[in-house]
Amino acid sequence: MKTFLSGIQPSGLLHLGNYFGAIRQHVASLEEPGEHYYFIADYHALTTCRDADALRNQVRETAVTYLSLGLDPERAHLFRQSDVPEVTELAWMLSCVTGMGLIERAHSYKDKVAKGIKPSVGLFTYPVLMAADILAYDSDVVPVGKDQIQHLEMAQDMAGYFNAAFGEGCFKRPEARIAAEEKYARVPGLDGEKMSKSYGNDLWIFESGKKLKKAIGRIPTDSRAPEEPKDPSELLLFDFLALFLEADELADWERRVREGGEGAPGYGHLKVRLIEAIDEHFGEARERREEWLAHPERVDAVLERGAVKARERARAVRDRCLAACGLR
Ligand code: ADP
Ligand code: TRP
Repeated sequence: MKTFLSGIQPSGLLHLGNYFGAIRQHVASLEEPGEHYYFIADYHALTTCRDADALRNQVRETAVTYLSLGLDPERAHLFRQSDVPEVTELAWMLSCVTGMGLIERAHSYKDKVAKGIKPSVGLFTYPVLMAADILAYDSDVVPVGKDQIQHLEMAQDMAGYFNAAFGEGCFKRPEARIAAEEKYARVPGLDGEKMSKSYGNDLWIFESGKKLKKAIGRIPTDSRAPEEPKDPSELLLFDFLALFLEADELADWERRVREGGEGAPGYGHLKVRLIEAIDEHFGEARERREEWLAHPERVDAVLERGAVKARERARAVRDRCLAACGLR
């Protein structure tokens, strides 16, 4: 039976990029037979977060987001990374067999430093902790966003180094799974750049009403009249519509915009349809969110149950590795 595992950092309100690039795949994986582990990477969040109350709130918000978007706690173990301290023990063991050169090549570290984040040792060794997360549960399949592939390859390398040193049976080799369609792998922001919290161009998954209308209003358009024929592939608005509309309906809007003429939709019209489609897509999830928010004790119970299951697995892997390297 396959083991699926992935995680997401609790770094604020999650946006459409996080949803289409990561969470959606996580939820979809539950349809496949196997064991499913999904966690909130709060130890990782500590590489940048300095506000204890904010971190606590964000962990809860992330749990509620996952549950509302359909991560069924009967089928998946949802837990907090820091509830499984074995992961940090494994991270140490892995760090002792990993060369500096491997970690120095990490794009995400270089990007963060380039953005002006003052690097801590934790930020530098982020990929080692992430490898420990993945390897601690004998994971087979790790559904992640495209920007995490390098981290996953590093986890494969680290497993290989440890096995080469202490025995082939220590760590299992995991495989990455990336969203097949490019439109999900790189969701644009409201300004057309990649959607990211750090660029301020993100749209919260559960945005609704006036705020949603205002956000969609920000998507840039131009002053061409509706009748003027246009190439839909050059319009950012269509990148968003493509995320939410069925293929037939999307093709129909594209055709009308390409042909132009009387009856062709204007930008305002397309934006109204986009808002409606977002409301339809997340309508049920918004309702479930209200339910979970009204019952914080249920969220805690899910996380506690998840942690018990996750620890059982991680303990077995940790014990196996301690024994292999002579620490037991
Ligand atoms: P952010 O850039 O907002 O800080 P994170 O780096 O925390 O987002 O990303 C969390 C997860 O969401 C990762 O798996 C990442 O691949 C995915 N993700 C983030 N932004 C996007 C995007 N614009 N398109 C697709 N996936 C994304
Ligand atoms: N680095 C991932 C992100 O930024 C989060 C993460 C931490 C993760 N540990 C992981 C993802 C293990 C998959 C597997 O989204």
